[in-house]
Amino acid sequence: MSNPFDLSGKVALITGGAQGIGAAIAAKVAEAGASVICADFAPMAAESTAAMDAAVAKTGAKWWYLKANLTEKGAPARVIDEAVKLAGKVDLLGNVAGTIRRAPFLEHTEEDFDFVMQINLYAPMYLSQAFCRHVVGRNGKGKIINICSMLSYQGGILVPGYTASKHGIAGITKLIANEMGTKGINCNGIAPGYIATANTAPIRADADRNKAILDRIPLGRWGEPEDLAGTAVFLFAEASDYLNGTVVNVDGGWQAR
Ligand SMILES: NC(=O)c1ccc[n+]([C@@H]2O[C@H](COP(=O)([O-])OP(=O)(O)OC[C@H]3O[C@@H](n4cnc5c(N)ncnc54)[C@H](O)[C@@H]3O)[C@@H](O)[C@H]2O)c1
Repeated sequence: MSNPFDLSGKVALITGGAQGIGAAIAAKVAEAGASVICADFAPMAAESTAAMDAAVAKTGAKWWYLKANLTEKGAPARVIDEAVKLAGKVDLLGNVAGTIRRAPFLEHTEEDFDFVMQINLYAPMYLSQAFCRHVVGRNGKGKIINICSMLSYQGGILVPGYTASKHGIAGITKLIANEMGTKGINCNGIAPGYIATANTAPIRADADRNKAILDRIPLGRWGEPEDLAGTAVFLFAEASDYLNGTVVNVDGGWQAR
């Protein structure tokens, strides 16, 4: 029987692939056999490069770093074009790059709000559009994963732009699933719980917030970026071919409380 999690012959574009969750997903997707393009405006972290090199050494596939600032005008379409030039095609899109600005609601500026929305919502929306045009244009099949959040469901505190963007991306995930399903493209989301990355360093450093968060996680620990990677492989693979428009919580049980 063929392996339903095998990604050999596929090309994945992972935004935010230089570090954190994006890098962990990129490495696991490469281990599953895909060639991978890591798109990010930051350079690859040394350990991310090492993980990608190790993964493709085992499979014989390839990986590339693509420098891209997703807030620049026209960036999403340009990133898809450049990825196709590098790898010949793109079959799998992981919209992982994201940012956060923490400030009380009364102090959250329009600039804060716009900045976060640009990266967390506009970029995945228009990357997905350019990706779908590419896949449909070559009569291919594709899969999209959008990284959502617990704040795709809850309001959170101190992060108005982030909450709006993550509610928005969960909605866009379902819209893409609805419109693109019969055109050969599945779109799903992953909602991470509380994961130990640069993004969450300030709340892990706050002893009270850290304790409150840990007390609510049934698995009793923060997640690691690698905890999300297996779900990403599943959502990209044949094993999930009938999954469409779903947001999978990978949260140690947070939503169950
Ligand atoms: N860490 C968590 O607990 C958590 C929880 C829920 C959702 N998320 C989401 O997971 C995703 C990854 O976050 P992370 O925790 O790994 O954070 P991170 O800060 O470690 O990684 C984010 C990556 O996105 C890149 N990026 C940011 N702005 C960019 C831009 N304009 N153009 C190109 N690249 C850009 C950064 O350079 C970085 O490599 C984000 O969408 C985040 O909202 C994280």
